[in-house]
Amino acid sequence: MDEYGIKRLDFTKSLAEVLSTHTKLPKAELEISIETPPDSKLGHFAFPCYGLAKKLKKSPPAIASELAEKIEANRPSWLGEARSTGPYVNFFLNRTAFVNAVLFEVLDAGPEYGANGKGEGQSIVVEYSSPNIAKHFHIGHLGTTIIGKTLDNIYRFLGYDVTSINHLGDWGTQFGKLITAYLKWGNEDEVNKKEISELVRLYVKFHEEADKDPSLNDEARSWVIKMQDGDEESLRIWQWFCELSMYEFERVYDRLDISFDLVRGESYYNGKMMEDVAETLDKKGLLKESEGAKIVDLEAFNMPPSLILRSDGGTLYTTRDIAAAIDRYKTFKFDKCLYVTGNEQSLHFAQWMKVVELMGYPWAGGLEHIPYGMYLFEKGKMSTRRGDVIKVEDLLDEAVSKTLEIINEKNPDLNNKERVAEQVGIGALKFNKLYNSRIKDTVFDWDRMLSFDGETGPYVQYTHARACSVLKKSLSAESRMDFGALGLALISGSSFDADLLADDEPFEVLRIIHDFPAKIQDAAEVYEPYIIARHLIALAQAYNAFYHKHQILAEEEPVRRARLALTAAVRQVLKTGLGLLGIAAPVVM
Ligand code: ARG
Repeated sequence: MDEYGIKRLDFTKSLAEVLSTHTKLPKAELEISIETPPDSKLGHFAFPCYGLAKKLKKSPPAIASELAEKIEANRPSWLGEARSTGPYVNFFLNRTAFVNAVLFEVLDAGPEYGANGKGEGQSIVVEYSSPNIAKHFHIGHLGTTIIGKTLDNIYRFLGYDVTSINHLGDWGTQFGKLITAYLKWGNEDEVNKKEISELVRLYVKFHEEADKDPSLNDEARSWVIKMQDGDEESLRIWQWFCELSMYEFERVYDRLDISFDLVRGESYYNGKMMEDVAETLDKKGLLKESEGAKIVDLEAFNMPPSLILRSDGGTLYTTRDIAAAIDRYKTFKFDKCLYVTGNEQSLHFAQWMKVVELMGYPWAGGLEHIPYGMYLFEKGKMSTRRGDVIKVEDLLDEAVSKTLEIINEKNPDLNNKERVAEQVGIGALKFNKLYNSRIKDTVFDWDRMLSFDGETGPYVQYTHARACSVLKKSLSAESRMDFGALGLALISGSSFDADLLADDEPFEVLRIIHDFPAKIQDAAEVYEPYIIARHLIALAQAYNAFYHKHQILAEEEPVRRARLALTAAVRQVLKTGLGLLGIAAPVVM
């Protein structure tokens, strides 16, 4: 018995002891090879027998089946079953021992449950969002922002040293066009008043006029060259456009609850850094002339050439990415540097990452593109014609107002309705993007994503609020509501009986809770937030099945206490999981 009054077995140690009796190998060596299967239906622990094959001169499956048999013949009471599956011996704990162990783990660790510390000492750069100056924050950047933020959260949670970067698109030929248009047809007040909308209008106007008078293109190009050479007038206007654009971007980030460690535009990678890239490529014999431009030939890798310098000496998106990667490695010494962007940029990333590899940088292997699919609307793809885009600000407003309607219908007396609608509406939008594997396109359907009882964000939030409400009602009116402390208190002392949670429904809930840490780790390894999102749905469904079948508050002790402890554990995991997905967890809704 420990201080909480429950018997806390250190299962891996105990298992290593059992294995040691039968294999005559040192405990420490066995302990480190014990694994946790990805799904506890396969076993709570597993022991792979490959390592023993040489020593015992038998095949791993033969060893596994003999070992399982020997352990079964003399099984300790806390162990439910030892079973061989191929080269593994899989172990199932006895239900009561399992219930005790899981509840203790989660309620003792609280918000840290699942934070395995595996990332300690490793540095990860996660680049995401990266919208373009002078254009609205449109739906094309919503996916990277939501997925990127989730990966950022997951790695921090696992103990990595994370640097999040917003690589703003603030440089390129479009700014020459915009400055030309502004000087010809713009005025300061309109731009200040209408912000990006006015910049977009000017940009569209430029294209209309340039169709009639192509000399405008030369004028625009001359502005680009001037900007590259440090011309003050054009840079002042450009700087102003950048600041204006940030107002809208910041409003979006505030509502999405996102901030970056580093916001740095592509313009930063100019001048000397770019020359260095070209020079290094040249020294390595990688740079070739092609129609006046400089390229790196990638034919051997089945890719079109990578364009490094334009014929007029202008630098390119690709060159800036190469310079940025070199600079990031210098600054952050990253183990990994991730780039979350739409799938349509996959070739671009494959090309320049190959170039960096050819340059011979040993860290090139740490660069990784994380692509994702686009949004699909009922009536086919969204339209991205000039200036005609779906603004994220409008989407957020719509998500919130639609949610407010639902709340007015379901729970009209709720306090702080506006705030809850903001949390639930935006949470729904995020969950919808995170629920499927990244690369799949996301179907945009308001009714489906806002539903309180589908595979949705609101459903998980609702289940979390339900657990909070049960816990709150269990407390006397005057006690402070600290659900973490409550959970621990419930399993302390001799009146807690884990046997009461060994039935199928509560056991299923605990099984899912037990698997939560492994799912976070899996999600981190394959950059797939859906693994967490789906696990939360499974947990919410299992808890609701339990809730509908069993009473909690109306029950006598000690059943009441056991079911409340289960509820406290569910609340904790749902809250942590929603937090990883960047979604708020209101206590009432
Ligand atoms: N601003 C770019 C766009 O909107 C995305 C930047 C992606 N990141 C990068 N390092 N290239 O298309």
